[in-house]
Order: sequence, then C-alpha cells, then structure tokens
Amino acid sequence: MAGRIPDSFIDDLLARVDIVDVIQERVPLKKAGRDWSARCPFHDERSPSFTVSPHKQFYHCFGCGAHGSAIKFLMDYDRLEFPDAIEELAGRVGLKVPYEGGRAAAPQQSDTADLYTVLDQSARYFQRALADSATAKAYFDGRGLDAATVAAFGLGYAPDAYDGLRSALGNSPQRINLLEKAGMLTRGDRGGMPYDRFRGRVMFPIQDRRGRIIAFGGRVLEKSDGPKYLNSPETPLFHKGRELFALWQVRQAQQKIGRIIVVEGYMDVIALHQHGLPQAVATLGTATTREHAEILFRNCSDVYFCFDGDRAGRQAAWRAAESVLPRMREGRQAHFLFLPDGEDPDTLIRQEGSAGFEQRLTAATPLSEFFFAHQESGTDLRTADGRARLAERCKEMIASIPEGSFRDRMLELLTDKTAIRWSLSASLSPQMREGVEEMLEERVAQLRGSSGPAAPAAPQPPRSSGAVDAQRSVVRYAVALLLQNPSFVESVDAPPYAFAALRRPGIGLLIELIDTCRARAAVNTAALLQQYEQREEGAALRKLAVLPLHGDAGTLQREFIDALAVLAAQTKQQRTDDLIAKQSDGGLDDAEKAELRGLLATRRR
Ligand code: UTP
Ligand code: MN
Repeated sequence: MAGRIPDSFIDDLLARVDIVDVIQERVPLKKAGRDWSARCPFHDERSPSFTVSPHKQFYHCFGCGAHGSAIKFLMDYDRLEFPDAIEELAGRVGLKVPYEGGRAAAPQQSDTADLYTVLDQSARYFQRALADSATAKAYFDGRGLDAATVAAFGLGYAPDAYDGLRSALGNSPQRINLLEKAGMLTRGDRGGMPYDRFRGRVMFPIQDRRGRIIAFGGRVLEKSDGPKYLNSPETPLFHKGRELFALWQVRQAQQKIGRIIVVEGYMDVIALHQHGLPQAVATLGTATTREHAEILFRNCSDVYFCFDGDRAGRQAAWRAAESVLPRMREGRQAHFLFLPDGEDPDTLIRQEGSAGFEQRLTAATPLSEFFFAHQESGTDLRTADGRARLAERCKEMIASIPEGSFRDRMLELLTDKTAIRWSLSASLSPQMREGVEEMLEERVAQLRGSSGPAAPAAPQPPRSSGAVDAQRSVVRYAVALLLQNPSFVESVDAPPYAFAALRRPGIGLLIELIDTCRARAAVNTAALLQQYEQREEGAALRKLAVLPLHGDAGTLQREFIDALAVLAAQTKQQRTDDLIAKQSDGGLDDAEKAELRGLLATRRR
C-alpha cells in the first residue's frame, strides 16, 4: 500500500497554497464581495453558483453541492489521485511530500515515479541517437524542421536494432520490467526476451498535461513493412483517449490560450507550431473522445477541428461533433475546417504560411452548421415526413447539449427547419422541455416587441432580465396577467378555448381561472387567492400575484391576448405533431389527413 501522508503535512500544505490561485488557473473566477465566484465547473449552469472562499480556503457550489479543499478540487477537476493532488500542490509551494514508512513502503507510488523516470531516460536516449544518426537528421531536415522545433518537441530516433534501448537502459531485471511496463519493450507474440518496440523510427515523445513524458509515437523513415506510425500501447500512464499530443507545448507557448486547433498527425502539429500557429494539438491515432473534448474546452473556449475533405475525414469530423456536443457549455465554440483533397495542415502551412491558414480558420464551419448539413443529407425537408425524420434524428443529440444559448440556438434552427414543435412530444427529457420553454418565452418576447404576429426565425434576441425572463412559461405568464387583472377575461372568446387540449403544466389552472373570472364579474386578485388558499396551487399563485409586470393596463391586456394566441398556436402544433406521429405509426383516416393538410397549410401561411 502507498505510504501514508501525515495529516500534519496536509494541514501545513493547505495553509500554504491559496485555493483561489489553484482554481483561478483552471476556471475564471470573478470577485464577489469577500469571495470569488464562477459558473460551476462540475455541472452545467448559466448563472454562477460556484463560490471560492479565500477565508475558508474552500469552494462550494450552491447549485450541485460540490465542495471541498484545493486537494479535492484537483482530484475532481484534473482527475488526479489523492497522492498526485498532494504532490502537485506541494510542488507549487516547494514542499517535499513525506511518506510515512518511506517510499519503499509505497510500491504503487514509486512504481509510477519510476515509470516516468524510464520514459524520460528513453527520450534522452532517442535524442542522443538522433544526434548520432545522419539518416535520421536528414529525415527531419527533409521535412523542413528546424533545430529549435526538434528541441521543443524533444524529437529523437530509435536505431534499427532489437536491443538498442534495452541494452542502454535495461541494466537490471527490474529495469527491464519497468521498460516493458512503460511500453518501451515488447515480447512479441511468442514470449521470450523483451526487445525494443521502436526500431528504425523517428520518435515523438508524448507529454501529459504536466509536461511529463508518458508515451511515444514513432514514424518509419521510408515506406517499409509495418505501420507508418507506431504508438506506445496503453500503459498505467498512457490512455490515448485522454491525451492530446502537444497540449503541453501549447500551454507552454501561451498563458492565455485563445483557441486550439485539432489536427490529425504529429507532423501536422509540429509544422503548425514551427510556422507560427503554436495552438495545434493532435489526437493519437484515435477518434476525438468526449474526454478529449472536455480537456480541449477546459483550456480554451474556441476549438477548431481540422479534417481531410474526403469521406473518411467527414466521418472523423462527425465523430468529433458527437463527442463535442455534450461538452458545449455556455460560451464554448467548436468549428470544423475541411482541407482540400490531398493536402494536410503540414503541406498547407508550408504553401500558404500562417496567414493563409488563418484565413481557412476564419472561414471554418460552425458546429451548428456542420451538424445540420450532416443530419439533413439524404432527407427531403420539403416533405412533412422528411421534416419529422430530421427532428427524430436530431432530438437525442440536441438533448445531450448542456442547457445554454447554444442548445437554444440548435433548437431554434431545428424548429425553423422542421417547423415542428416537437417539444411537446412525450419522449423529451425534463431539461429538454425547459430549453424549449425558454425558447418559446423568447418567441413571446419577440411577439411583444413587434405589433404584428410572431415573426419566426428572427435572430435570437439577447436574454433580457425583463418580466418574461422571470416566468418559466407562457402559461404562467398568462396566469399572472389574469390573476393580477381579472377584468382581462372580457377579451377571452367564449369556450371552447383554442388551447384547452394543450398538454402543458398549468393549462388546467388557467382555464379554471378564466371560468371563475367569467362567472364572478367583481372578483379581484385577493378573492381569487382566497379561493386557492387551501389548494396545492395556492403557493404558486401567491408568487404570481406579486410578480412585477411592466407596462400600462392596455399593454398588459394585449400581452394577455398575445399569450393566449401563442398557446393556441402551440395547441395546433401539438395536434400537428400528434398527427404526424400517428401517420408514421399506423396511418391516418381521411378526416385526419384532411385535418393535417389544413394544419400544415395554415402554418405555411
Ligand atoms: P497520416 O497517415 O495521415 O499521416 O496519419 P501524416 O500525419 O500525414 O504523416 P506524414 O506526414 O506522412 O508523416 C495521421 C496520424 O494518424 C496516426 C498518427 O498519429 C498520424 O500522425 N497514425 C497513422 C497511426 O497512429 N498509425 C499509422 O499507421 C498511421
Ligand atoms: Mn502528412
């Protein structure tokens, strides 16, 4: 078992580090009184409920309840193990971590440390071999790398021998064992003595987020047997789905990273860095995973994915999009850049320079556009069936997007494309419903902004802090307006109400209120509240009765009428959705078909 770290040391450590600094490096904090605040990095939210107290050296999220010390933060945010979090903090303040019983009692711990050591020694061995090999140096020269780049990436060469590295570094059974565990030696298929995994290849060290070497990639010098690139296998230190080549160099190059460019190959990354775009990283011969996406966005808010323009490239781009969607928290942006056939970033930046490449980045396709272009391909949006299919195809993925303006935007686009308010269908998650409700609120806001009927597909208005924002839904808004102004009932047409069938919380209550106001001409707000005193809805109504509403009586009355009109439109939409769903389930009878045609026709107008 790992040697214990004494509590007294941990107390001392936590007294010396400042949790604000530790968190600030990872999450932008704003001063809020004595404390600091931010949007919580552990759950998706729009308004900041995450606070860090310098006084208590403690963070706490009022939204999700996450809380703890600097150690806990590093464990949860950087996904470090407890001893590694301590090591990281101790390193910051120049303390050495004491292990009770010494390190010998901590085999797990020392083993990891020794793995880093042999990998570091391997890198130096490869660098020496590069210096000694005219062929390998000529290879990098031929690819246009300058000495500074070779040094910055720690590039090297693995000589073409089975026991080069092994005889240089494997001078004891334990060391051979470690080299094998680190992925540097292999036994091949038939067992036997372990030998060098990388032979006759130029070597690219892969570093973790703290700059430690955890693996290698190796490229053959010329076409030959075996794969062009060979990577280290998964080891205790290396999980390729979680690592990005050159992220360390990107972080070294700039304090504040404005954007990251994700490309496919080692040489692409290196060429971009050398030619003035030190923001390039690469996944390691794998598709972009959700973990990659999260790591990328934790480092900056703009991520550019570069792919070949061919079919394979588009497929890889789509996989990246799938991984990125659930990570699209507020403020994050993903872009997709497709390169001309036969080119890669390495060849392009040599031809066009960084300015040319910048232009391509500027013209990159936003995620939303790429998403719909991909989803719409092969679908005929002129048919109701095609539109329903598109909605069906998109809804799970859009629901996977965290709440926020990006999801709202995607919903808007889908709604515009399909003209289907599928929000009301039963299969949606509660969060999804909420997103849609908000979108509808915005529609109401638009309605109120213009005197005519709602203008669909208008650019999204900024989220206001006005009355509509305080509501959760159009229904609630209508209830509040009527409750505070029972005389508005005069402007409601006699039943049946056009929105009676709408499946939406509060609709029953709204209708009941309308009926009550109609029956009791002199009723006022207090009397209405009295009536609901003992009922479940009482508390909600009391709040709506004091909700600030802005505007004179005439304006408010028009808003009440507009709100009911929106509800009526939603009811029509719901009916349309139901009929379309029924159509694909089992078909419609003639009356229903006629009804659906009628509904679709009115909407087109
Ligand atoms: P490419 O085959 O597209 O080559 O591999 P490249 O990056 O243009 O390489 P150069 O320019 O010929 O040197 C793209 C990336 O895919 C992974 C590597 O990470 C490589 O950089 N790859 C490729 C492998 O892991 N194994 C392979 O055999 C080939
Ligand atoms: Mn290439």
